[in-house]
Amino acid sequence: MTFRTTAELQAADTAHFLHPFTDHQGLARKGARIIRRADNIYLWDSEGHKILDAMSGLWCVNVGYGQQALVDAAAQQMQQLPFYNAFFQTATEPAIELAEVLAEITPPQFQHVFFSGSGSEGNDTVVRMVRRYWDLAGQPDRQIIISRDNAYHGSTMAGASLGGMAGMHAQGGLPIPGIVHIGQPHWWELGRPQGLSREAFGLQAAQWLEDRIQALGAHRVAAFIGEPIQGAGGVIIPPSTYWPAVQRICQRHGILLVSDEVICGFGRTGNWWGCQTLGYAPDLMTFAKGVTSGYVPLGGVMVAERVARVLIEGGEFNHGYTYSGHPVACAVALANIALIRRLQLVEHVRDDVGPYLAAAWRDMAQHPLVGDAESCGLMGALQLVKDKQSGAAFDPAVAIGMVCRGHCFAQGIVMRAVGDRMIVAPPLVITRAQIDEMVALIRRCLDLTLADAQAGGWLH
Ligand SMILES: Cc1ncc(COP(=O)(O)O)c(C=O)c1O
Repeated sequence: MTFRTTAELQAADTAHFLHPFTDHQGLARKGARIIRRADNIYLWDSEGHKILDAMSGLWCVNVGYGQQALVDAAAQQMQQLPFYNAFFQTATEPAIELAEVLAEITPPQFQHVFFSGSGSEGNDTVVRMVRRYWDLAGQPDRQIIISRDNAYHGSTMAGASLGGMAGMHAQGGLPIPGIVHIGQPHWWELGRPQGLSREAFGLQAAQWLEDRIQALGAHRVAAFIGEPIQGAGGVIIPPSTYWPAVQRICQRHGILLVSDEVICGFGRTGNWWGCQTLGYAPDLMTFAKGVTSGYVPLGGVMVAERVARVLIEGGEFNHGYTYSGHPVACAVALANIALIRRLQLVEHVRDDVGPYLAAAWRDMAQHPLVGDAESCGLMGALQLVKDKQSGAAFDPAVAIGMVCRGHCFAQGIVMRAVGDRMIVAPPLVITRAQIDEMVALIRRCLDLTLADAQAGGWLH
């Protein structure tokens, strides 16, 4: 590759590259930040600045950057067999072996997997699969899938419809028919203003599911889908009462329970799967991201035996992707899972750095800008408030999260802002010393944001 200056790259970027979820006029004014290389939990941009990646790329680089075992697995598989499909009574060794390993590391109800190329495609598969299941099970009226406001399930037509992002639904005629949304288990926004304890609110939020099922008629409801912890929605950690109650409701009405583990899977919450941390046993589980630590694209759906048996006995399911079980992606996933096991990263999150982050977060809650600080495993959120005592929010026109995120960029840390929530999900290989470094950077950014708020008169 020929060397090009940052300005040249930015000009070419503006001229030709349509970015995901981006205001291109704003981007053109600033120019994209060009990320050139990475190692462990750090990135370097084209100007040579070092950046601590507290978001694991996009919630995916669980084993950190620069893991040679994954590079070698990809290179070897590319040389041996870069591609073959699984459509016409053929299979490849990496895909078979990965299916076997996934059956091992997922909860015991899962013995079968359907591969996709991404989380969005995985959730499209979920929509088709649950409807197909109920057709075969002799209950074809069960077509409706219940999801939640502020959920994120991807950006394809079905993924974005399952998601509860108002901005996405506003474009392109979404949601597609047969998908409905209930309230999210967001205690800070919905429970706290009512004076409810977290636990009491968790039961109230689960009751919204029961109420919607009653209103629709259980005989029309195919499935309920949720992320164990909403990631893109702002790291919304549901009260401990929520998921067990949701599970009871689904069981009572015979409704399939789908856990979207695209972010929470592969150790993020201190167990292999978010549903294990949050206490429920789903019938289907979507995964992506952490399955390859983002080194190459791969996703899929784990299918519980009671569902898989019906699908298998029901004849051909007319669904599949060219890259379902892509051998290179599967080889990288196998190397990634082997590395997670060898480095004991799930235990590292559960017993060491997860509790360490939680303690640091408790201290962070003392900061004058922080109204609430929550974490689970290696996912954390800081709710920024104007008034610590009352929890009053900043004027939305201030866009306090974006102000803080601007400081993060300048100070050399990637943190994401979702409204007034600042969130982190660092690579699972992070050490205690690196958490100290991350927390010191975050504190500095909060202090700078507070100084802006004081100078701008935003606190009154
Ligand atoms: C919970 C969840 N589901 C699905 C997706 C979509 O995955 P992809 O971007 O790989 O299509 C995401 C992406 O962030 C996600 O967070």
